[in-house]
Amino acid sequence: MSKIACSLFILVFIISCSRKDPYSNWQTYGGNKENNHYSSLKEIDTGNVARLKVAWIFHCSDSDRMTQIQVNPIIINRVLYGVSPKLKLFALNADDGKPIWIFDPAAGTLNNNKGQGYFSMNVCRGLAYYTGGAGDHRIFYSASSNLYCIDADNGKPISSFGQGGHIDLHDGLGRDVKDLYVAGTSPGIIYKDLIIIGDRVDEDAAAAPGHIRAYDVHTGKIRWIFHTIPQPGEPGFESWDDPEAWKHVGGANAWSGFSMDEERGILFASTGSASYDFYGGRRRGDDLYANSVIALDAGTGRRIWHFQSIHHDLWDKDLPTPPVLVTINKDGKKTDALAQTTKSGFVFLFERETGKPIYPIEEKAVPTVSELPGEKLSATQPFPSWPRPFVRQSLQEKDLNRLVPDSSYQEIKSRLSGFHTGFIFNPPSREGTIILPGYDGGGEWGGAGYDPSTGVLYVNANEMAWVLTMVDAIYRTDSNENNLHAGERLYKNNCMSCHGPERLGSGNFPSLIGVEKKYKEDDFINLINSGKRMMPSFARLSVSEKQAIAAYILNEKDIQSSHFVHPVHPEDSWFQLPFHGTGYFKFLTKEGYPAIAPPWGTLNAIDLNTGVLIWKDTLGDYPEFKARGIHTGTENYGGPAVTAGGVLFIAATSDAKFRAFNKRTGQLLWETDLPAAGFATPSIYEVNGRQYVVIACGGGKLGKRSGDAYVAFALPSQ
Ligand code: HEC
Repeated sequence: MSKIACSLFILVFIISCSRKDPYSNWQTYGGNKENNHYSSLKEIDTGNVARLKVAWIFHCSDSDRMTQIQVNPIIINRVLYGVSPKLKLFALNADDGKPIWIFDPAAGTLNNNKGQGYFSMNVCRGLAYYTGGAGDHRIFYSASSNLYCIDADNGKPISSFGQGGHIDLHDGLGRDVKDLYVAGTSPGIIYKDLIIIGDRVDEDAAAAPGHIRAYDVHTGKIRWIFHTIPQPGEPGFESWDDPEAWKHVGGANAWSGFSMDEERGILFASTGSASYDFYGGRRRGDDLYANSVIALDAGTGRRIWHFQSIHHDLWDKDLPTPPVLVTINKDGKKTDALAQTTKSGFVFLFERETGKPIYPIEEKAVPTVSELPGEKLSATQPFPSWPRPFVRQSLQEKDLNRLVPDSSYQEIKSRLSGFHTGFIFNPPSREGTIILPGYDGGGEWGGAGYDPSTGVLYVNANEMAWVLTMVDAIYRTDSNENNLHAGERLYKNNCMSCHGPERLGSGNFPSLIGVEKKYKEDDFINLINSGKRMMPSFARLSVSEKQAIAAYILNEKDIQSSHFVHPVHPEDSWFQLPFHGTGYFKFLTKEGYPAIAPPWGTLNAIDLNTGVLIWKDTLGDYPEFKARGIHTGTENYGGPAVTAGGVLFIAATSDAKFRAFNKRTGQLLWETDLPAAGFATPSIYEVNGRQYVVIACGGGKLGKRSGDAYVAFALPSQ
């Protein structure tokens, strides 16, 4: 054979191999563009998984008391790319964890106290890789409101992309959103020479729109934009009662990333609710394309089909993950489909090309009366007739936690009787409405795993009830400004929804009592200008508004009463909603346990060919209950990874364990302690024939200690 013919032969061989087995590497967030978290590697199998040992640990060394790592790392040509708690991008040798380079996006930006361009720490979930051939290897990831294009070989920004290697996600949304919060959390996806991205935006009224944008990987120029909040003349525009809404209302963002049918050139996006989350009086109508699965032509952004999973959402039931591409073998017929898991605990199944549901979806009548003036509820909501939901969807007295002492049980029972409960679509109320499944699912951003060789879908879930309580917002009038501290009023309208009515915080939202010991007014205003991780930026407030809030929170008594406040948007009634939620509160017992009976976290295996749940188990333990032989499961964040070796790997739980299950039976095969809880999805890869599974251990959620480690496991070499 001539040299050319020989290399041609090898090339064809490599291409056909990679065609045959697209699952042997982990080059994309979620494993591959089908987002199935599946690996065809099988060196580690059900027989030997219990012998796994730590192969290497990489410490990012930049965690602090609130940081997290939610990253699902990618591995390309023996190099692992990940992101640190403080959003540094790094490259490691995938076989020994030794760093190759580290890129710090905050270098040189941290001391800009003007509010704009200030580096805010968002949470990052992953990155995307593009190669244009030899010498052109690019990593795309978002830190704060910047999308970076970094040379995968040396960690340097590629200066021909955007402005010196990055673009500002505030630009090009078709509206002036420079003072609003826009950040990248989940990574974009590559299609040909495009990087396609969605954003995280504010959940409050002053929110940027969540339009989906495709940029040229080489120049950073926008090539197409899909308006998730349609504009006049675009289909879906009529789903907003107020023809002006598109200019003011935000959200409907694809914050969880994308999946893609690359051969057909179809991009799948799943969107969150329109803002503000809990009161929709300024966004009456169905609010397309919020809470929707959208199929777009990946090359042009043209909409092919969509399905809205909740009309006029008032429960923060964002679609939390892009769909998984699956093939359903039903009645002897194979159908290329997709599976959308939801926070509500539903699995929606659609034909990939047309969006036709695999099983009928019924529009059922739901409560239509809201006690909040101006609200207009949707008369119906969609329910899939099959498969069954993978979590409980209603909380009644019989569902309460009996593991606590009777006095504690009586206390939750009496509180429950004061709430609206018992149905998933009870509207927000002043008395309190039970939200179950909760704001964090059901299913969450960890997404589902899917085994293409068996057709089984694996989804981990939370079963936590929350209480949503609405209160009247208070705006400045001459009479109330004298009685109520301006800062207190502004706090209630802007900050209470996370930090709580008494400033005591809850869950991941810190208490603000005593923060005057940590922050001087300047630092405090810097912080609210920039936002920090899960806290959005408040740069949009006027200087005097920020000073008033500072005076209130920092207890600057002398200036409290005399502050005169100039609102920044006095005319913008769109941002001044009449009602606010009082915060994100879980329904807990006095001891701090969920008020709902266990399980609190589960792992579910659903055969998509039949829709039948083939096994279900609790996921995670509370040591004190485990000691009594009771497995309750814990709340969990991050998804599973499934292998051809018959193993399902998952961390995600608050007990900081990493576990391996038999994917066919659900039997727990192995568990080990992590240095901090692994609220992330593992990645599976191979170097020189040795299989590794790696998990980011960032903690920092569910009241757990933060961590800074990526830990890789492998079988001991002989
Ligand atoms: C969407 C939820 C949310 C809203 C709204 C919000 N915050 Fe926060 N806030 C957070 C979170 C989460 C943190 C922790 C950030 C971190 O370090 O990861 C935080 C942190 C803080 C801190 C630092 C606390 C510390 O111990 O260091 C201050 C101060 C603060 N917020 C003030 C405010 C003020 C003032 C407002 C209103 C203008 C506000 N927040 C609105 C979520 C929120």
